[in-house]
Amino acid sequence: MTDVVAPQAGDRITLSGSDVAVPPLGVGTWAWGDKGTWGMGGYDRSYDEATIRDAWQACIEAGVVLFDTAEVYGGGESERIIGRLLAADPPVREKVVIATKFMPFPWKLAVTSALRRSARASLERLGIDSIDLYQIHGPISLRSHGALADALAAAHAEGLIKAVGVSNYSVKETRSMDAALRKRDLRLATNQIELSLLRTMPEKVGLLACCRELGVRPLAYSPIGQGRLTGKYSAANPPPKARDFSAHPMAEVDKVVDVLRRIGVAHGGRTPSQVALAWIIAKGAIPIPGAKNRHQAEDNAGALGWRMDDTELAELDGVAFYGMRTLNHRLFQHG
Ligand SMILES: NC(=O)c1ccc[n+]([C@@H]2O[C@H](COP(=O)([O-])OP(=O)(O)OC[C@H]3O[C@@H](n4cnc5c(N)ncnc54)[C@H](OP(=O)(O)O)[C@@H]3O)[C@@H](O)[C@H]2O)c1
Repeated sequence: MTDVVAPQAGDRITLSGSDVAVPPLGVGTWAWGDKGTWGMGGYDRSYDEATIRDAWQACIEAGVVLFDTAEVYGGGESERIIGRLLAADPPVREKVVIATKFMPFPWKLAVTSALRRSARASLERLGIDSIDLYQIHGPISLRSHGALADALAAAHAEGLIKAVGVSNYSVKETRSMDAALRKRDLRLATNQIELSLLRTMPEKVGLLACCRELGVRPLAYSPIGQGRLTGKYSAANPPPKARDFSAHPMAEVDKVVDVLRRIGVAHGGRTPSQVALAWIIAKGAIPIPGAKNRHQAEDNAGALGWRMDDTELAELDGVAFYGMRTLNHRLFQHG
């Protein structure tokens, strides 16, 4: 059985081990300030800091107040943009939840001091006193989970971070990090993974069930397949090549989009993106779709306030992809 109550923008989920409360839908900000993959100031002239401000405002108006960034996005520019948005309207800090990430490159062996330095630099760029959710970006550190947990515990004790998360962690890694944090009186709040109709692997391998059991909330990244599930790309009009998560042949993706369209029509004109996001929410994960402008932010916020029935969810399960096993997966995407 799926939840009978439709998720609402005003709903709040409290993250384990903290009093940080987040809505059932968030926003990803990788594209903000990023040229290589997303084209800001490069191949995509349709967006800039003004359209990003519109997206930010539309999200907040809709109650979608969880913003996900990372120290590496745009070489820090994503965090700097968020910092400027916060500085332009200081009271808004009370309303928003800021999640950012530490990239544990293998050469960062002195991980406690490296994480502390990174967290402080993120705080500086964001212009805030404490990070609401601090995530280990990927399972690439050469240090043990105990050493990473020590580093997180030190940053937590210093008040630099409020809740602790990981990203791209497998079932085994999630269990191990959860146990390491519990030993230090902390809890693992989230595991950010690629989860969408183009990648159901986290459900199939038991990662979603593991998260549920441990009280770890999955955050779903690339939830609309980097634009592939919005309906605007197709075999005839594929997305830009740089977007290499779940880059399945568009002729195959088009079949999923057809089902999204049909279900959306049956729900009074919901868009493919809204249906794709609603499917993720029904799985118990929080999607964090990127938005470059107000239109995209408002469209994505329309994933809330309604729900599909079990037959529709099952139909989507039936057409969804398992996911790709690429080099990226072996190195970075364990979850
Ligand atoms: N932890 C990790 O390793 C990791 C990895 C990847 C992403 N992430 C996080 O997850 C977030 C989301 O993932 P993502 O940005 O890769 O992919 P996504 O959310 O699936 O796709 C976002 C892109 O789709 C297009 N779009 C968004 N909403 C739309 C709408 N309603 N209608 C039409 N087009 C729309 C926009 O690009 P165009 O308009 O150019 O098509 C937008 O930039 C990131 O921003 C980041 O915060 C984390």
